[in-house]
Amino acid sequence: MFNKHLIPNTQNLPEGKALNITVEKYNFLVTKQKGQIIVYENLCPHQKKPLNCSSDSVLDEEGDYLKCHHHGALFSPLDGTCIIGPCIGSHLKKATVGIEQGNCYLLLA
Ligand code: FES
Repeated sequence: MFNKHLIPNTQNLPEGKALNITVEKYNFLVTKQKGQIIVYENLCPHQKKPLNCSSDSVLDEEGDYLKCHHHGALFSPLDGTCIIGPCIGSHLKKATVGIEQGNCYLLLA
């Protein structure tokens, strides 16, 4: 049984961009990649901190990778793999997403 939470404005999220949302006190990273909405828990596998600390941005300067602003780890936005940084090879945890009538929902167990 899942609790269903609407992820607002995913239709307006530009391709390749990412944003932060909070649902039930948990923080998530929402990104649109190749037209698909992908959601990760906003917890760096290195020290279990949110990727964005003082910065609102969750992307690197070029906007190509999700970036942990604590120690600079970069993650593929497509599958959450850390490609450089202290947790290289580990992954951001994907959240379950569902689509219903054109709206995107976060499904929490
Ligand atoms: S906590 Fe993210 S790289 Fe260290």
